[in-house]
Amino acid sequence: MKYIFSLELIYILASISYILGLKMLGNPETARRGNLIAAAGMTLAIFGTIFLYQGEVPILIYSLIAIAIIIGTIMGWIVAKKVDMTKMPELVSLFNGMGGASAALIGLIEFQHYIGNQLSILTIIATMIIGSVSFSGSMIAWAKLNGTLKNPIRLPKYNILNNVLLIAILAFGAYIIISGIDNSIYVYLLFFAALLYGILFILPIGGADMPVVISLLNSFTGLAAAFGGFLYGNMVMLTGGILVGSAGTILTLAMCKAMNRPLAHVIFGAFGEDNNTDAVSNTKMKGTVKEASASDVAILMNYSQKVIIVPGYGLAVAQAQHVIHELEQLLTSKGIDVKYAIHPVAGRMPGHMNVLLAETNVDYDKLVEMENINPEFQSTDVVFVVGANDVVNPAAHNDPSSPIYGMPILDVEKAKHIIVNKRSMKPGYAGIENELFYNQKTSMLFGDAKSAMTKLLNELKNM
Ligand code: TAP
Repeated sequence: MKYIFSLELIYILASISYILGLKMLGNPETARRGNLIAAAGMTLAIFGTIFLYQGEVPILIYSLIAIAIIIGTIMGWIVAKKVDMTKMPELVSLFNGMGGASAALIGLIEFQHYIGNQLSILTIIATMIIGSVSFSGSMIAWAKLNGTLKNPIRLPKYNILNNVLLIAILAFGAYIIISGIDNSIYVYLLFFAALLYGILFILPIGGADMPVVISLLNSFTGLAAAFGGFLYGNMVMLTGGILVGSAGTILTLAMCKAMNRPLAHVIFGAFGEDNNTDAVSNTKMKGTVKEASASDVAILMNYSQKVIIVPGYGLAVAQAQHVIHELEQLLTSKGIDVKYAIHPVAGRMPGHMNVLLAETNVDYDKLVEMENINPEFQSTDVVFVVGANDVVNPAAHNDPSSPIYGMPILDVEKAKHIIVNKRSMKPGYAGIENELFYNQKTSMLFGDAKSAMTKLLNELKNM
């Protein structure tokens, strides 16, 4: 009784730490502490579960658990320490996949132990299907984010194929639950079918829809873990799963809003259509591109009253967050009003630009979300687009055949002057050309963001 009470107390403390940690993640100033608090709660829950477990556990099982924890901790530590900030979104996808795999394995292993208990079998089938889809889907998302799988892969009639497979998996799962079958072969079959569905589900998704998919997979893993918690009657696993699942769902809906994509469109696709609008566009832009030097841009900025910086994925690649902060401070010291325009899907993971700029202790009031900054472009002298491309592409407004058509973008075209810094004329993640670069108001400052901005800084310092 004493032990049960202790374990329950530990689970309550751990659950509180997750809720508190999650709340603190909502603000860049408290996010780091929030992460540590939730991690401490998770450590407490793991060791509480191991050492305060009521039943008899053979020493071999304890040894295996210890070996798994040691290997997992060392691997996780090394990978997280070594990873570049630009590779973080891929790592998050990989970790998410591991959560899905764990839930799927619980389902596979526990099936035999719960035969005859229909509610438990339902829970097991649910955790296994969702966990497997999350695992294989996250692996494909990982390959897409690191550039191994560049373009969407679409089999003929892929929408019909995927939806038929999904219905078949659900029907087969229902059959296993209702019929009370006790043969694990059926569960393994279901496991492989769900893995296949995860792959086929993510393969055809185009670059523009990836932000929605990443958060959706995140919510799947949470849901699978919550089913696991329900199966074991383990409150801390249930709470953790529900928190991840609901946070992931809220994020998915926020991403759908940011991309102006109905969720059903992303999950089920345009049923029966094989349109290929997400493929890399071959349309060649017409017109000329104006090039500017660092000194041209410095003169322009020096005589401005208001400058808006639009950071994008290239800023993270160049690791130019410190230089951009220095530039912002220098311009501010010259009496210029400077703000950052933050697009919800800029970069490669939700909140990427906020995380990147938080590293340099940027004043958070200067980070302005898209809805609030868009009305300001009209009264802006210079917009400085640094390593951003898709999030400022007017095709989202003007070209119905574009894969990003309908996505809200930063209305940089409304500013008096537009400076775009990137290394070449190559497209961004969605693989489409950008007519903004050919706009008469636009000048291109070619070069790596860090070196281009360092030159710009030096020019401005001499003025
Ligand atoms: P992108 O459209 O990907 O454009 C980034 C640009 O940065 C590229 O055109 C590249 O051009 C430039 N660049 C790369 N390295 C650079 C460097 N060292 N210095 C200067 N420029 C550099 O980025 P974005 O505007 O941030 O849009 C994000 C895209 O990623 C959207 O399509 C979004 O849907 C997708 N996505 C987002 C997420 C989330 S959740 N945020 C997740 C997955 C996918 P050069 O090669 O010519 O330099």
